[in-house]
Amino acid sequence: TGGKESDKKVLTMGTSADFAPFESRNPAGEIEGFDIDLANYIAEELGYKLEVEDMKFDGLIGALQTDRVDMVLAGMSATEKRDKNVDFSTPYNHSGEMFITLKDSDITTLEAIKGKTVGV
Ligand code: ARG
Repeated sequence: TGGKESDKKVLTMGTSADFAPFESRNPAGEIEGFDIDLANYIAEELGYKLEVEDMKFDGLIGALQTDRVDMVLAGMSATEKRDKNVDFSTPYNHSGEMFITLKDSDITTLEAIKGKTVGV
């Protein structure tokens, strides 16, 4: 119907802006990061204007359950406990932290550590 930008319905994202590069505040105090970009994309696709609500990480699921926000993007991983209370999307990021060793090391898995203990 060609409404003005300001007429757009609002989609509210809850986040905890203390988790760069996913969400943090820049020196000007604005919230930015990967999750903000993704949320803007989601809102745009759905025809909404995005509003971001910054709060404590531990309050995010409660805020969703009490309708204070419409969705949460906060670098949050699915856990069994959280999954009982909310629906998680398919993952949009996989992080694979690894330990590193010298090139050509034969210890590149946790299993390989077993039996390699230096005697005391
Ligand atoms: N991925 C971890 C979790 O789900 C840490 C997320 C922290 N996010 C934040 N915005 N502080 O618990």
